[in-house]
This record gives sequence, structure tokens and C-alpha cells, in this order.
Amino acid sequence: MLRVAVCVSGGGTNLQAIIDAIKSGKIENAQIVRVVSNNKNAYALTRAGKAGIEGICVSPRDYESRELFNRALLARLQEAEPDLIVLAGFMVAVPACVIDAFRGRIINIHPALIPSFCGKGYYGLHVHEKVLERGAKVTGATVHFVDEDLDHGPILLQKAVEVKEGDTPEVLQRRVMEEAEWILLPRAISLIAQGRVTIDESGITHISGK
Ligand code: GAR
Repeated sequence: MLRVAVCVSGGGTNLQAIIDAIKSGKIENAQIVRVVSNNKNAYALTRAGKAGIEGICVSPRDYESRELFNRALLARLQEAEPDLIVLAGFMVAVPACVIDAFRGRIINIHPALIPSFCGKGYYGLHVHEKVLERGAKVTGATVHFVDEDLDHGPILLQKAVEVKEGDTPEVLQRRVMEEAEWILLPRAISLIAQGRVTIDESGITHISGK
């Protein structure tokens, strides 16, 4: 059974997609062992509670320095003994100590087709604002492994989504979630739980089997 810790910051619709996929059997062989939020008011924590999953808050505000927060975050993740950490709308730069401790075992969902519309300043609704400002006709979502560089690690899954005439950032965000994110993230966890994902020396992922 793959032990999954999920890190969140806000509404938690991606967390919900994972909870639902485990419940319906779309993801077999995995359980969420802990939800960690940097924001105590995140609705994602309520979603975790409703699903009977332990949810905790580790906020930088509760620590005197970033270093102390980083160490606390690492400790609270390690306690849960996860095999996989899923960043599902986690708006905190993952500290190097966490990346080191869980190398190759952290995935993130990004609401665009990496390497477009990613990096510093590209998070949440801002991503969709920039897509519309640039006049891109296609966007999408990406699940990738996390390394030291923002939105940079090996790409696992991607799905394109059409940008439509008259889209607002909110409308586009919702379409990207419905058509891509809520499908890709559970699928990525399922593939990893089935042991079907490898990363080669060049940092390219490969998915075995059907
Ligand atoms: C999602 O669109 C996710 O892809 C994005 O934040 C949203 C969280 O929504 N993540 C990032 O921008 C990370 N760079 P949710 O809390 O409803 O899952």
C-alpha cells in the first residue's frame, strides 16, 4: 500500500479528486496518511477531516525563522512515513531539506503545460491570467517530479486544454481543473502505486505496461 502525504494551501479540489479516486477504486493500492497545510484556514483541511484523514497545519507564521519552519515541515512529513508526497496546490517553495529527504518521491500538479507559464510568480489564478494576456490558444496541466528548481523536475503526465474566446481567468482555471488536473493527479498516483513509473539518467520519465 503506497502511503501518500498531500500538501495543500487552499480549496483542495485536487485533494478531493484524490480522495474520490481512492474511494471509487480508480486508485488502488494507495492511502492518504496525512494532509499538511501551511494555512490553517484552508478548506482542504475540512475536506481531509470529512474524509477521516488526519490534517495538520504547519505555518511559517508559527516559527521564528524560515529555517525553523523548514525543519518543522520536514519533521511533520517524516512522522507520517510517506512513500510519496503530493503537492496539490501547495503554495510554498519546498525546502531543500524536504527535497533531499524525499528525492524522486515528490510530485506536483502545475496548471499549465510546462515549460510554458511556469516558474516564479506562476501559481494559482496568476497562471491563467498570464495565459490569457499572452493570447495562448492552448494551455493545460502538468504533473511532474519535484527537484530543487521551481516547476522543473521530470514531467510525468500532461494534458492540453483549449482556451476559448471570452474566457476569464476563473473560467479558464475551472476548465483546466475539470479537463486536466482532477484527471491527471489521481492517474499519476495510480501509476506510481502500480510501480509503473521510472525516471532515466536523462531525467525522462517512462511509464511501463498498458
Ligand atoms: C490548482 O490549480 C493547482 O494546479 C495550482 O493551484 C490550484 C490549487 O487548487 N497549483 C499551483 O499553481 C502550484 N504552482 P486546489 O486547492 O483546489 O487543488
